[in-house]
Amino acid sequence: MVKVGILGAAGYTGFELLSIFERHSEVEVTFATSGTYAGQRYSDVYPCPYDITLIAPKEAPLGDVDVAFLCTPHGASARLAQQALAAGARCVDLSADFRLRDLATYQEWYAAHPVPELIPQAVYGLTEIYRDQIAGADLIANPGCYPTGPLLALHPLLKAGAVQGERIIIDAKSGVSGAGAKPTTTTHFCSVHDNFSAYKPGHTHRHAPEIEQELTAYAGQPWRVVFTPHLLPVSRGILSTIYVSLDPAWEQAQVLDAWHNAYDAEPFVHVLPEGQLATLAHSVNTNRCVLSLAPAGAPGEWIIVTSLDNLVKGAAGAAAQNMNVMFGLDETLGLVS
Ligand SMILES: NC(=O)c1ccc[n+]([C@@H]2O[C@H](COP(=O)([O-])OP(=O)(O)OC[C@H]3O[C@@H](n4cnc5c(N)ncnc54)[C@H](OP(=O)(O)O)[C@@H]3O)[C@@H](O)[C@H]2O)c1
Repeated sequence: MVKVGILGAAGYTGFELLSIFERHSEVEVTFATSGTYAGQRYSDVYPCPYDITLIAPKEAPLGDVDVAFLCTPHGASARLAQQALAAGARCVDLSADFRLRDLATYQEWYAAHPVPELIPQAVYGLTEIYRDQIAGADLIANPGCYPTGPLLALHPLLKAGAVQGERIIIDAKSGVSGAGAKPTTTTHFCSVHDNFSAYKPGHTHRHAPEIEQELTAYAGQPWRVVFTPHLLPVSRGILSTIYVSLDPAWEQAQVLDAWHNAYDAEPFVHVLPEGQLATLAHSVNTNRCVLSLAPAGAPGEWIIVTSLDNLVKGAAGAAAQNMNVMFGLDETLGLVS
């Protein structure tokens, strides 16, 4: 059995991880932390069957686990990763603290990094792309929820040299759980219900440099994104509409073939047939990322639509998938494909 600890277990991604581990035959949850609810049983805090008593983060027996999951905000995660690694635990960080490989970029978009010396040892945890490195890593930087769909869609096309132009437009919509458990004025039910809004448009959301970092690595040349996220009046799910220019010689069947070649052996990436477009219903409550394609009306112009569940493939599901790879387990254990 793999012994796991969850820090930040009373948040949305922590809750999702506990539900995955309830279904996982090879995992024993050794501890789950919450500063707010320390001393309380999980099932007394939330209506759920998880029978574990939450402990304060500073009481976490990090040396007793094989792997610590950090379901905690950026900034806090980096320090916790340092402590977990020092105690001998491997670490999957769901925050952004180790996603950006360039320290200056992290500091431009986030804040001073608490433990910059750990950045070089982190592996970006997009399992389908970095599986071999993830298997041997002690520190995983789980991808952001918005980047995963566009990155999985674009990786095979960039690798094939089919993507043209200077920038890619990504128009993404997320359910409100993407903002975490604590409501703000903009994420409060009264602001979101029966409403729909864009936020942090163009190149102002922190996931823009993360997407650019990865696209640039896949293509071997710099890529720029215009990225505008939106807040949907639903609890979970991300639908991304991606406007991309491809080599005009590429037919729709060729793009779909590139995706099939890359992902037919993957348990969690599903390619829809020509004529179908991804919806949230294709992926919510699963660890799936769904890819679909439509012509944009001019030669070489295409619209890609991807969907995933921000709390599963966009967070806790990807984290558990990475853990399965790190410990040589069946990659699908605990996960719905
Ligand atoms: N929500 C998503 O869809 C999503 C997707 C991908 C990645 N992420 C990332 O995953 C992380 C967790 O997200 P979330 O949505 O689960 O957030 P959340 O609902 O706000 O939960 C975060 C939890 O972290 C705990 N916490 C805060 N500061 C802490 C500290 N200094 N030390 C220990 N625990 C601390 C808090 O619990 P207590 O108050 O009980 O201590 C809180 O419940 C974030 O970094 C987020 O950016 C989220």
